[in-house]
Amino acid sequence: MKKNEATRGRFIVLDGPDGAGKSTQVKLLAAELEKRGVTVKSLREPGGTALGEAIRALLLNQTTIHIDALAEAFLFQAARAHLIREVVGPALERGEWIICDRFTLSTLVYQGYAGGIKKKIIKQLSSAAIDGVKPDAYIVLTLPAKTSVDRRANRSADRMESKGETYLKNVFNGFATESKKRGSPYKKVDGQGTVEEVQKRIWSHIERVLTAVQSSKFKVNGTIGFTLRACKIIN
Ligand SMILES: Nc1ncnc2c1ncn2[C@@H]1O[C@H](COP(=O)(O)OP(=O)(O)OP(=O)(O)O)[C@@H](O)[C@H]1O
Ligand SMILES: [Mg+2]
Repeated sequence: MKKNEATRGRFIVLDGPDGAGKSTQVKLLAAELEKRGVTVKSLREPGGTALGEAIRALLLNQTTIHIDALAEAFLFQAARAHLIREVVGPALERGEWIICDRFTLSTLVYQGYAGGIKKKIIKQLSSAAIDGVKPDAYIVLTLPAKTSVDRRANRSADRMESKGETYLKNVFNGFATESKKRGSPYKKVDGQGTVEEVQKRIWSHIERVLTAVQSSKFKVNGTIGFTLRACKIIN
């Protein structure tokens, strides 16, 4: 076990279709880790930087400017490249943990499966954007399309959610297909049931990641050198 491996932070992603409970669970997971003295940064994609939030507004909150499907894919990846290089990479180096709401699987599903851009192109763009920074745990929340629609019933749809029924069907199909065939670090987690039930399922997986980090620190330092620091959630 290299010292750098023991001291670097861990990168956790929560992904899944609209209304799967990602944002709800990111907050709960961050709180759970913070209780244990882990410094956590919560991020969302697209976003997490000033540029990323400006791109997010363009991609999600406006309906007047037409965005071509390939241009849309590039915009998501531009926000990602900026986030990785400006925030995620440096934070992991400092030993902080990152919890990110959506990541590369969303791009493959929304812009590839649903948006019609070749999956190979999406994967190449993602690979360039992540610059070698890979998640340690990638939780994919699953739920039936009907539950997603019900959960989002009392809020207005964003630009991506307004792309119609076929698009939404392809999104669900994309997540189901991809999460079935992916092994570690991907972990399919049932997003149905109460918030607390889903939280427990996620925690049972992440707790193992935390335990592994603590024991690797012990091996390197001969002591559990866990730094207790103030925690900051930035969204
Ligand atoms: N387990 C759950 N049971 C019932 N309702 C839930 C559950 N988890 C989240 N919700 C509610 O469902 C709605 C969508 O949840 P949330 O915003 O966390 O999902 P999301 O995956 O982040 O959605 P989006 O992709 O649109 O950002 C919210 O109103 C939230 O309070
Ligand atoms: Mg959300």
